[in-house]
Amino acid sequence: MSQLKWWQTALFYQIYPRSFADGNDDGIGDFKGITEKLDYLKDLGVDALWLSPHFPSPNWDCGYDVSDYCNVAPEYGTLDDFKTFLHQSHARGIRVILDLVLNHTSDEHAWFLESKSSRDNPKADWYIWHDTPPNNWQSCFDGDAWTYAPERDQYYYHYFMKQQPDLNWRNPAVKQAMWEAVRFWLDLGVDGYRLDAIGTIYEDTTLTPHTAPMTMAELRREGSLARTKEDYKRLGQIWHDMFKNQWGQPGLHALMKELRAILDEYDGDRMLVGEDDDIAYMGDGNDELQLVFNFPLMRVEHLTPAHIRRNQVQRLKGLDALPTRGWGCNTLGNHDTSRVRTRFGRGTESLELARLNATLILTLRGTPFLYNGEEIGMTDLIITDPTLLRDTMASWYYDAAVNDLHVDPTEAARHAGEMTRDKNRTPNQWTHTPNAGFSPADVTPWLPVNPNYAEGINMQDQQDDPASLLNFYKLLIQVRKNSPALIEGEYRPLHERARAYLAFLRETPEQTALVVLNYSDKARALSFTVDGKHTAHPLFSTASHKPEETLNRISLAPYEVLIAELG
Ligand code: GLC
Repeated sequence: MSQLKWWQTALFYQIYPRSFADGNDDGIGDFKGITEKLDYLKDLGVDALWLSPHFPSPNWDCGYDVSDYCNVAPEYGTLDDFKTFLHQSHARGIRVILDLVLNHTSDEHAWFLESKSSRDNPKADWYIWHDTPPNNWQSCFDGDAWTYAPERDQYYYHYFMKQQPDLNWRNPAVKQAMWEAVRFWLDLGVDGYRLDAIGTIYEDTTLTPHTAPMTMAELRREGSLARTKEDYKRLGQIWHDMFKNQWGQPGLHALMKELRAILDEYDGDRMLVGEDDDIAYMGDGNDELQLVFNFPLMRVEHLTPAHIRRNQVQRLKGLDALPTRGWGCNTLGNHDTSRVRTRFGRGTESLELARLNATLILTLRGTPFLYNGEEIGMTDLIITDPTLLRDTMASWYYDAAVNDLHVDPTEAARHAGEMTRDKNRTPNQWTHTPNAGFSPADVTPWLPVNPNYAEGINMQDQQDDPASLLNFYKLLIQVRKNSPALIEGEYRPLHERARAYLAFLRETPEQTALVVLNYSDKARALSFTVDGKHTAHPLFSTASHKPEETLNRISLAPYEVLIAELG
């Protein structure tokens, strides 16, 4: 194959450490557990792991409130356990990237404790302080963006929870300290970072107030009631008006370049992938982040062929326009969103849709990212008892809805259960035994286990079932690995008006692959015209085909996935 870098050809898999595998039977995932599952991941065909934060944290935001950037949370093990995990991953040819939270620390981080201790300590200016709240800015997680600290008799700024104070990135000492943490893990051999919430790093220096006609609590409440396209559009505009001065401010590109230069000092092509929609963070394609998630692909109510085609045209056009051509990065799920199977599953067709969407992510041009549990079709678990919520953002919403907005508690609990990210962070389902084999039966896992582990949604049962979703992923991943066209081919849409199915080519000089995804319950007969090609040799399909089909007469079964090499 080609000149592509490892992060272009790799299949990434996101591990949510708290829920992946519990190696010491305390109800919480850990490095021992992850290390024990590396053979499972290798067998699945994973090439690289992204770990959600594994650092010490008071866990107000499930690890995204870091209290020490150069250590391991005790519940996940020790630094030595991490090193063993890293070594064992690398020994299997699996790379590892970590989560880097730049915007904020925990309010229990030593930097913040010092900063808030007085107005004139050496770190007094490491966070953003004002004598009075200077404007009406909101926190996207818990209401007001300014919280009072009696020690200084001042207010500090936080885009996320009040337990997540924003660092003052305009202070060079902050940068210096964070870059040291970045080097700490690179020195240990990690292969890169996923950058958390990059858009929030800088704020408008003039502190211009927002013009949204409501508070965050009201916006969340309206969000939970929204049903129509128009509702979502209107609320999207309000969200934009509310946060436009707290997002995407000047300075970010220079900062990303600085960070990239640090990674480039290391050998082995260390890489960065950004949590943002905007490919502008790839700079010229070679001087900022290597990858930026294609969130616009997944940020829709319905994943239709028309939406996918529109997304690909726009995204790939943007990437191609970068001075050094950029590379795509596709995903349909992560720890912040409803699970792929639930979200895009259309109820009773969810297994068929899960197969189609898995194929989509593994055959589009760009690096695919899977979220743990997706490969066995794990679904959301709606937690309706507010006392069981661990996602503080949802607990805050519940309290604000009941106490400030006077919403009926049962209704508020239902909304909280729907909006919380706990629903898609439940423990991984390994077996069909109690607690899904995540923890022993007599241990209570940190979040409830989805009872559908007993209905075949677990790794053990699916390993043994040739028709399972897990085996579907495994086969498909191998087809992808063995096909130069699927890894690096250009994308060319076919039948661009088709509403019920998606058809596209992936083309390299040596191979042309046709991908057809039938998103409907109807069989159809399709005819494709591709210059110089007449036959289709199925490489992978959920229906039966002859070893050689005629390109202008291909029959497609309901919900069929077909990948064929053209000749
Ligand atoms: C990112 C993370 C999310 C977290 C937030 C604050 O969006 O993905 O889980 O809550 O940043 O760090």
